[in-house]
Amino acid sequence: DKKITIAIDGFSSTGKSTLAKQLAKELGYIYVDTGAMYRAVALYAMQHDFISETHFDKESLVAKLPKVTLQFLFNPELGFAEMYLNEVNVETEIRTLAVSNFVSKVAEVSEVRSKLVEQQQHMGENKGIVMDGRDIGTVVFKDAELKLFMTASSETRAKRRYQELIEKGQEVTYEDVLKNVEERDYIDTHREDSPLVKASDAIEIDNSQLSISEQFQKVLELVKSVS
Ligand code: C5P
Repeated sequence: DKKITIAIDGFSSTGKSTLAKQLAKELGYIYVDTGAMYRAVALYAMQHDFISETHFDKESLVAKLPKVTLQFLFNPELGFAEMYLNEVNVETEIRTLAVSNFVSKVAEVSEVRSKLVEQQQHMGENKGIVMDGRDIGTVVFKDAELKLFMTASSETRAKRRYQELIEKGQEVTYEDVLKNVEERDYIDTHREDSPLVKASDAIEIDNSQLSISEQFQKVLELVKSVS
């Protein structure tokens, strides 16, 4: 079979990364979580006090962007790649609700997007890649052989995200998680640059009623049909 590019987009917590990881493992492809890259830039902005509840100094963040290096380094013990920001492992920190609360504002900045998109396109040059995010099928890989658009109700999604954060030992309430998921979806779909939208040639998968393995089987069939 020839190697293809698989683009997975959709709202927050629709299980994009679970599906993308399963596919990459099954097909022997690279998996890239682009949300981790936007989260790392948001963390950088927080660390330098460029963003807080009360202010966002976009100019300073943009001026510092050339100093921001993002890398995915494979951790053989875990079996997946972890996010590094300027050579520091930030995999745990970028998954907190604090970062989730600022990431969509940082992801609205065009200069941030163009830097990350360029890096993502470079990673996919040789195909054999599964990438998940919000603009993969519409901007990063417009020619991807398979584009999926994942949806599920916001309550289903908030429940999943809440469960995930609790399992990691974070102190959050369901209400806060739901509010965050809804706010991010609003910003992500309404921003001017690369808004979250289903590509015209993407296949929509609503997984509110699908188990993880049912979804996986369904998508594997789709992969076979195009590769
Ligand atoms: O996928 P995840 O929920 O970790 O993404 C975090 C945030 O990063 C999204 O809510 C969105 O604002 C931003 N993002 C984006 N474009 C991508 C991936 C993520 O704008 N390709």
